[in-house]
Amino acid sequence: MTLRLHTPRLLLRPVREGDLDTMLAIRNAPAVVSTTGTGQALPRERMAGQLSRRCASWRDHGLGSWLVLLDGDPVAFVEVTPIGEGSGVAPDAIEIGVVVHPDHWGKGFALEAGSAAARDLFERLGHERVYAGVDPDNEKSLRALAKAPGVRRIDDELYEVTAGAFLDQPGNSGAGEPGGDVRSRP
Ligand SMILES: CC(C)(COP(=O)(O)OP(=O)(O)OC[C@H]1O[C@@H](n2cnc3c(N)ncnc32)[C@H](O)[C@@H]1OP(=O)(O)O)[C@@H](O)C(=O)NCCC(=O)NCCS
Repeated sequence: MTLRLHTPRLLLRPVREGDLDTMLAIRNAPAVVSTTGTGQALPRERMAGQLSRRCASWRDHGLGSWLVLLDGDPVAFVEVTPIGEGSGVAPDAIEIGVVVHPDHWGKGFALEAGSAAARDLFERLGHERVYAGVDPDNEKSLRALAKAPGVRRIDDELYEVTAGAFLDQPGNSGAGEPGGDVRSRP
């Protein structure tokens, strides 16, 4: 089964081991690097380790990170991972994070792709909530999050979206809004 999410403009598919160079090109684009805490490019071997874990998550749990394609070309990825220790919520709670290649910032792709991934967690997998961690100094990230359907701020660094709040948003019942017109295809 090959899972795909279709939004009005984008296609999301599960990441694969062969996506390493593509994901590095997005993650290590200078404008993205400058938004990270360290201000450093992610070393190839660390990205390879992360990607292996994402692929294992798809195999073992049926969820994981997505590569985002526009007309067949990669423009972003959406991380869907356990939030881990230190966030104040259960470490196995699911967190979504979006990284868009800077060539495609300012087109609404983060909201569209992130909403599609959240909808998949709620509708296909029955999750009740999803989290997004944020650096309070990252203005673009805060603006994208503020528009997420049904989002609630927990503290400066953590936001939550519940299935109920997300699906209750006007126009977000399956079509029309960013990420709303999403169809999973086997
Ligand atoms: C933060 C980040 C994901 C935002 O990506 P983005 O695609 O530009 O974000 P959005 O989806 O919010 O779209 C941004 C703008 O596109 C505009 N836009 C243009 N066309 C649009 C359309 N058709 N639909 C919706 N919005 C559109 C929106 O108005 C929005 O403007 P605003 O920022 O003034 O509100 C991106 O800058 C990034 O990858 N940064 C580095 C990594 C990072 O910080 N990730 C977030 C933490 S996990």
